[in-house]
Formats: sequence, structure tokens, C-alpha cells
Amino acid sequence: MRKLLLFADPGIDDSLAIIYALLHPDIDVLGVVTSFGNVSKQQATENTAYLLKLAGREDIPVIEGATFPLSGEYSVYYPEIHGAEGLGPIRPPNGIQVNLKRFSHVFELIEKHPDLTIADIGRPTSLAHAFNLNLERLQKVNDIFSMGGAFFVPGNVTALAEANYHGDPVAANVVLKYAKNVYIAPLNVTDRAIVTREAAAHIESISKNPFKDLIPAVTNYYAAAYAKLRPHQNGPSIHDAFALYYMMNMEKIYSVKKTVSVCVQSDARGMSFADFRNHLTPPGAKHTIALNFNYQDFLTDFIKVMSSEIS
Ligand code: RIB
Ligand code: CA
Repeated sequence: MRKLLLFADPGIDDSLAIIYALLHPDIDVLGVVTSFGNVSKQQATENTAYLLKLAGREDIPVIEGATFPLSGEYSVYYPEIHGAEGLGPIRPPNGIQVNLKRFSHVFELIEKHPDLTIADIGRPTSLAHAFNLNLERLQKVNDIFSMGGAFFVPGNVTALAEANYHGDPVAANVVLKYAKNVYIAPLNVTDRAIVTREAAAHIESISKNPFKDLIPAVTNYYAAAYAKLRPHQNGPSIHDAFALYYMMNMEKIYSVKKTVSVCVQSDARGMSFADFRNHLTPPGAKHTIALNFNYQDFLTDFIKVMSSEIS
């Protein structure tokens, strides 16, 4: 069983990842840290609260994280991709009950659960803050999964950079520098984690859970946004859900261990890089980069989890 603390900015693919985590029989969600990113922190918190309510899991703590990047810059949101409120066509109702905790709850969870896993599927700012505030405690976390970066492929927010690392490259470097072990799900794999309209319809037709209507609604909205950007792609890339599939299926995914850095300035801001000139693992390398996976296995797993009964 993976005891999971998620850092997220829902956002459609974050929402699908949160649902995947809530439905997966071998994941125990212990909390969700919400931050700016695809939407504002406030909106990310409301969206998370709505998803937890639908699952009947209002008991799961929601921990408010960062409002803007470490640089203090104004952050850009993406309503054209994720919808005005971040859930495509869905507007979460007002006044949803939420088990809101202070940021220090992150440290309490790590202390209480020595086997805790962290997955960060948003801008890395809140996680970097956690390292800065309590380095010793954060270095007790064995596994940190990070959706971010791009190797051998273009970026998505600029020609060179992926959105999460571009959103706060300084924070990305803090996490990469201080974390014990980071497993990176970059665009070179997540771009190919596509959910087709047929797959979304299939989930709807066989689903036994309260997300039966929401999943096709948000996926089809996301598909329409992707169709404008990438008309030849057969559906949207669900980056964040892939990061959790990676977490639960590590043995199936081809990965290499390298030392990764992120450019912080100029046109290359947010660009991730590592030394791929040879196949060697540099001494002290602690960044495992996903490079390849079996698409059919991913899709089959996604459909199975997303249509399963809530346990
Ligand atoms: O680049 C993909 C990432 O940026 C995902 O986390 C997605 O939610 C977007 O914000
Ligand atoms: Ca995200």
C-alpha cells in the first residue's frame, strides 16, 4: 500500500490523478497540498474539496500551499486548457466542507508515516518550501515523484520548457538538490499518456463510482483544448495521472538514473537537462527519469482504476 501525500494544482489532469489515487486499491491518500498553477491556490483548494466530497472522503486533509513562485512573480493560469475553474465545464458548488490543515501538517504526516510517498504534480514551489522549512524531516521521505521536465522532446509551455518546472525553476532545483530520491515523469513519457474519447466513453459505460459523469466531461473538454494545439493527436495527454501510474508500476517503466538540473533564466527558463552522452549513472545520482513505457498497459490500467468501485 502506498501512503501518499499529493501536491497538486487541479487542473484537469491533476483532477484525473487525484481520482486515480482515490480509486486505486493500493493507494492510501493521506493529504493533498494545493497550490497555484493551472488555477489559483484558492480554486485548486475548492476543486480538491469537491473531488474529495464526490468520493465521500471529506476526511482527507487539504493543506494550502504556495500562492506564487519563489521569485515572487505573478503566476499565469491556463483557463483555455483547464476551463475557467480548472475542471473543464464543471463548476464546483460553493461552500463545500473541507478538512483544511496548516502547512505544518506536511511535517506531521512525514513524522507519523515513515513510509510516506510524496507525488508532486504541480509547480514545485510548495514542496521546495517544505524542504526549506524542515530539511531534516523532508529528507526522511524515501520516494518523491515529480511530474515535470522534458528530455529529448520540446517543452509544452515554451519551446524548451515543461509547465511545472517553468512555473518555478528555482523551486524545481531545490527539490532536485535536497530530496533523497526523485522519480521524474517528464513530457517525453507523459505526452504519450493519451486518453482517447473512446477510452473516456468506455470508462463512463462501465464505471461503478461517483466520478462516472465527471471523468468523460473533463476529459472531453481537455480533448477539445488539445485538438486545437495538436490536431493530429488522438486525445489529451494526462501528464499527472501518468506520474501516479509510474508510481504504481515502476518495474514496467524504462528509466535511467542521472543528475538533473533546471535552467532558471533566459529563453531556456524551465528547461531540464542531464548528461545523456553516455549510459553511465553519475556518482551520487538520485534522479530516476522515466524514458519509455507500454502505452497499452497504461491505458488498460487507467480504464480499470478509473471505472472501479470506490473502496
Ligand atoms: O506540463 C504538464 C503539467 O503542467 C501538468 O502538471 C499539468 O497539470 C500542467 O499544469
Ligand atoms: Ca498539474
